[in-house]
Amino acid sequence: MGSTVDPGFKGVAYQPQEEVYYNDGREIALLHFVYGHPQLEEMRGNPQRVLDAIDEFGKTKKYLMNIGPYKAKTVIDLITEVKPQVMVELGGYVGYSAIAFAAAVQAAGGKQYWSLEHNAEFAAVITMLADLAGLRDIVRVVVGNSATSLKRLHGGGDLKHIDLLFLDHLKPAYTPDLKLCEELELVGPGSVYAADNVVKPGNPPYLEYVRRTVQEKKEAFNSGDTNSPRGNPNLVYESRFVEGWEPSGVPDALEITRCTGVGP
Ligand SMILES: C[S@@+](CC[C@H](N)C(=O)[O-])C[C@H]1O[C@@H](n2cnc3c(N)ncnc32)[C@H](O)[C@@H]1O
Repeated sequence: MGSTVDPGFKGVAYQPQEEVYYNDGREIALLHFVYGHPQLEEMRGNPQRVLDAIDEFGKTKKYLMNIGPYKAKTVIDLITEVKPQVMVELGGYVGYSAIAFAAAVQAAGGKQYWSLEHNAEFAAVITMLADLAGLRDIVRVVVGNSATSLKRLHGGGDLKHIDLLFLDHLKPAYTPDLKLCEELELVGPGSVYAADNVVKPGNPPYLEYVRRTVQEKKEAFNSGDTNSPRGNPNLVYESRFVEGWEPSGVPDALEITRCTGVGP
């Protein structure tokens, strides 16, 4: 991994990311690892202990595509500041971010953490590990494609407003899913978004969208771009780039965006 490795990760980084790095049985192997762990009893009701066990698997067994402790700290600090009542994540994988962030949402007085995950097996792992961490009352795992789930939760009245949105699923889905949330009025002034992996692998269309002015968004909106969903170009965004590290020690960053109002 050469010069890309943060020296702070020496000896403690996750295993390197192989060509096939998920959905090869490792997620169920993680579940067996955690539930067969000698410290299982200490994990019950203790989110940090469960996260430590997931990290231990990533370091000693196989790479896992989790946000990891470094970038998670950035989002936890954001949760502490924003104090979201409702937080939604797009892409849950094995529940690392759900456990880290739902615990922070709960500590900040929040009520609900929705984890939207399209792989049913991964969703089952999230449920089992969040349950072990004592987060059963706050974490709701929804199996299915993110856009379909957002529409259904909105239509059924289960989800009315998103205070904090964490985007960590299929990279080309970030912009259309955000636009869908805008159209459904799930987000608006006061909402905050944290988008992962904006360096590795990168997401130029998303960065361009959240960094545009209302004027620029309106021009694009009116220029015949009929791709659906079309979003709400009137939302004013302030966006910043926060550097961090993948748990494997590779540099990456989060884009933190705040909706500060509605433009003229
Ligand atoms: C990078 S992993 C998420 C990691 C997790 N947020 C964490 O840090 O612990 C991406 C996840 O998004 C899921 N995914 C990808 N596209 C999706 C979609 N359109 N809807 C729901 N889940 C999706 C994948 O199955 C995978 O589990």
